[in-house]
Amino acid sequence: MRTRITELFGIEHPIIQGGMHYVGFAEMAAAVSNAGGLGIITALTQPTPEALAVEIARCREMTDKPFGVNLTFLPAVTQPDYPGYIKAILDGGIRAVETAGNNPQKWLPVLQEAGVKVIHKCTSVRHSLKAEAIGCDAVSVDGFECGGHPGEDDVPNFILLPRAAEELKIPFVASGGMADGRSLVAALSLGAEGMNMGTRFMATIEAPVHANVKAALLAASELDTRLVMRPLRNTERVLTNAGVERLIEKEKALGSAITFNDIAPEVAGVYPRILRDGEMDLGAWSCGMVAGLIHDVPTVKELIDRIISEAETIIRGRLHRLLDGSFESETTRREPALA
Ligand SMILES: Cc1cc2nc3c(=O)[nH]c(=O)nc-3n(C[C@H](O)[C@H](O)[C@H](O)COP(=O)(O)O)c2cc1C
Repeated sequence: MRTRITELFGIEHPIIQGGMHYVGFAEMAAAVSNAGGLGIITALTQPTPEALAVEIARCREMTDKPFGVNLTFLPAVTQPDYPGYIKAILDGGIRAVETAGNNPQKWLPVLQEAGVKVIHKCTSVRHSLKAEAIGCDAVSVDGFECGGHPGEDDVPNFILLPRAAEELKIPFVASGGMADGRSLVAALSLGAEGMNMGTRFMATIEAPVHANVKAALLAASELDTRLVMRPLRNTERVLTNAGVERLIEKEKALGSAITFNDIAPEVAGVYPRILRDGEMDLGAWSCGMVAGLIHDVPTVKELIDRIISEAETIIRGRLHRLLDGSFESETTRREPALA
């Protein structure tokens, strides 16, 4: 399957692993890249630019395929050393950067002059058009279903993706709610040239997260995520747990008077204790509604191979047969849904 996305990043399959705080380590990125997708290391999980340089070098030892780095520009108590992280990216020979959060315009010249292709993650058509206008090479269009920060417009992918296709000239991938071959075919149908997955990649053998996290994803349904931090206009979709319910109670009680300090116990610095140490009731960690479609923990290669073969089966099988007018039994209609 070739699209402008596979060409842009020099990858075999149009599947990207989005940056994930405390998940996007070298092991995760290398596994995705080795399986033919684009793996991405999350820069800000590394405490310093020097640590990012080491992580890039570790990943380079695990794969000879292209991989990228995510740079997230979100409100932070202390601003990270962005020039330092960018230097580590360039010195590390990285050719793909996923930016997210605030407008990346300031950093585009230095990245692109070094031959880096930049894909910016956007949760709206207007931000996608802005990304195109400032010269980004591609966009990752993140619908309301997504794990992490869906923005404040609440437009799901069945509307957002075709709207993006109506307006954008640069290629884009569908992000949010993507899990399997059905997702990929749907994304392509709606105008995307590939897909970006976060949550689904956490439930793989290689994902460097605690077994409790993978078990929580298997147990969760599509009803188990919550939106937090909306009153602060920094909405995050997270998996519910005791800490998250406590946070939501504070949001209800304090209303518009709430400040970051009120919810700091449930959000500040909790990622390592949840994702690495498995303290599942501590607080908020990003998780998409797609948890409802996660029923197993395969290797990354099994997952990606299955997605591609499911997509091919749907296109050559079910969709083709619809045009032929052939009768579809209940079983073939459901193919190739996961067991
Ligand atoms: C645990 C977790 C951490 C994430 N951390 C980041 C991050 O640091 N920067 C970022 O740009 N996106 C982050 N994301 C968002 C993903 O890159 C991706 O856009 C999103 O997960 C797509 O939706 P999905 O989970 O439905 O696949 C995170 C997602 C998850 C699940």
